[in-house]
Formats: sequence, C-alpha cells, structure tokens
Amino acid sequence: MKKGLLQKTLQLGSVTLPNRVLYAPLAGCSDLPYRKMASRWRPGIVYCEMVKMDALVRHDPHTYRLLDYTPGLHPIGAQLCGSKLQFVQQSAKIIEDLGFDVLDFNCGCPVDKVTKDGSGSGMLRTPDLIGDMISAMVSTVKIPVTVKIRAGWDEAHINAAEITRIAEQAGAKAITIHGRTRAQAYKGPANWDYIRECVDVAKDILVIGNGDVFTAESAAKMFEDTGCDAVLVARGAMGQPWIAEDILRYMDGLPPVDRGVMDIRDALLYHFDLIIRYQTERQALLDMRRVGCWYLKRLEGVKAVRVQINRSSSTKESFQAIEAFPWQEVQLMKEVSVVGEE
Ligand SMILES: Cc1cc2nc3c(=O)[nH]c(=O)nc-3n(C[C@H](O)[C@H](O)[C@H](O)COP(=O)(O)O)c2cc1C
Repeated sequence: MKKGLLQKTLQLGSVTLPNRVLYAPLAGCSDLPYRKMASRWRPGIVYCEMVKMDALVRHDPHTYRLLDYTPGLHPIGAQLCGSKLQFVQQSAKIIEDLGFDVLDFNCGCPVDKVTKDGSGSGMLRTPDLIGDMISAMVSTVKIPVTVKIRAGWDEAHINAAEITRIAEQAGAKAITIHGRTRAQAYKGPANWDYIRECVDVAKDILVIGNGDVFTAESAAKMFEDTGCDAVLVARGAMGQPWIAEDILRYMDGLPPVDRGVMDIRDALLYHFDLIIRYQTERQALLDMRRVGCWYLKRLEGVKAVRVQINRSSSTKESFQAIEAFPWQEVQLMKEVSVVGEE
C-alpha cells in the first residue's frame, strides 16, 4: 500500500469513514467506556458489541444499553446477530433510528449457544440465507449494510469467496473476513489467503481484512499481502486503544509515538474513570479487573498491583493501589501473547 493512502477516507455507500483502520465489535468488551477510550485515537469507526435481533425487537433494556453512545463517538457501527428473517427488518430499522452510521451483520460468532439456531458463524452453512438477510436489511434502511464472516465453517467448507459474491449481489457495501474457520475458534494463526481470495472476487463490495493484527507492522503486512480495502482490529485494540494511530503513522512513514510505562498507567486510570462513570460500583469493580488485565499484560513487574486490583472491595481501593504502586520499577514487555476470549 502506498504511503498516505491510510489518510484516505473509506466510502461505505453514503457514509465516509475518516480512515481505513476500524475497531471491531467485541461482545462483553466494546462497551461505552471502551468505545470512548478507543475513539480518542480516531479509528475509522468503532463498533458496539453484537446484539441479538430478537432481543432488540422485544425491547430488552439490557440489549439497548449495549448500544449506548454519545454524539462524539460518530462514526459508530452496530452489529446484529440472528438467523430469523422475521426479525431482520424491524431490528435493522431500530438500529437506523438509534442513529448508527453503519449496520453490520454478524456471521462469524463461533459460540455454540449462538450457532445452535443457525446464527453467527452458523450462517456460513446457509449462504443463500445470508443473501436474503442482507437484502432484507438493505431494503429497509438507508445506512450502509455490511457483513462480517469467517473463512468458512471448517477447513472442508471454506466459502468466504462465495459469500462475498452473495453479499455483493444482496447490496452489502463491505464484507469483513476473519481468516479463521468456525472450527478453529481462535486456535492457530488467521489465514490471510482467504481474505485475498475475497479481494479477488469482489467487484463493488469492499473487503475488510481481520485476524491477528496486533501491531502497526502486521496491519501493513495485511494490506500488502491481501490487497484489502481496510483492516479491522479486535484483540489488538484491547489495552492498546492507540493502535489505530500507530498503524496510520507507520503507514505514512512517521516515527512511532513513544509510549512508556507511565503512559500505559495513565491510560489505565483514564479507562477506569470512564468505567466508574458508566457502571454501578459493583459492575465497575468487575470491569476494572477485566480491563486492567489488558493493560497490565503489556508490563513486567506488575503482579502486585494486578493482585490488588483483583482483591479490592471498592473502586476507590483499586485507584489507591494504582496511585501508590512504584511504577518506576516496571518494564515494558517485549512480546505480548494474545489469546481468544470469545
Ligand atoms: C472477547 C471477544 C468478543 C468478540 N465479540 C465479537 C462480536 O460481538 N461480534 C463479532 O463480529 N466478532 C466478535 N469477536 C471477534 C473479533 O471481532 C475478531 O473477528 C477476532 O477477534 C479476530 O480478530 P483479532 O485477531 O484482531 O482479534 C470477538 C472477539 C473477542 C476476542
């Protein structure tokens, strides 16, 4: 990819995204505090976690809360999960009426309780139904409709390129390919060849590459190897919400921003503060343990503060532990291992 191209916008139908580094939907993770944190580094878009079509249609308050956002978070995407045609149009309309900029359709979630009724990656086994679901969305809303898939159900049933054609015909503006199969879950590396195959068959539909982008270098390699139009970062943004800025700078030949231990500590505190403002005390305490791990796993010599965060009986106690900790003794990790949590 040529220098400067990442400063170019991404046109999804009538919607212009400011750049081509996108932040993925993350169930149980990409909540409002996460998205507020992430948007400070200006990714092309940030997605809310997936919501179930039927839950939206029956006005389940918990589901609506997953879609909370503030005006400063545009462009913002929502993602629907489901396999029943009867819920598609109403749920798509709700998303549009809530003011979302992009509507994505989840055909990738590998969890049994989601796939058992044919939803999530279960949809990969019924490609024509994917087309019907997308057509129903496209005929209902004016915002761009996109779809997110895996390479296939398993190695014997790779059908991402076939679904790319179907999605294009049905009117989707973009398709995201996670280069793993459903059977793989998160085991083994994502196979970017499958993304390349989708790029090769796509005519008008944009192809977004996904899987194992954890650094600026790996994003550049994904663009290079696959020819994709944009990259979608998921786990790589957990604990490094600035990865979009890192990628954009790298692709533009700018020197990396030096992010030291204290920058990570400050980011952790800022993220915690967003959590406290949004959640109840009890939920905030749980969320801080989860989110704390994302940031702390990038540091060496932080075991004591991790234990304190996990043991704290109030958010105030967690903050005090972080404030009192001797951060000057902490080192940045060279290699960070990332495992799937879906
Ligand atoms: C905790 C977690 C939650 C996820 N939730 C969603 C989701 O709601 N919708 C979705 O399409 N993908 C979801 N994914 C999959 C990611 O969006 C992404 O496709 C996958 O993690 C591969 O990208 P990565 O290697 O950059 O992490 C989730 C992944 C994780 C680890």
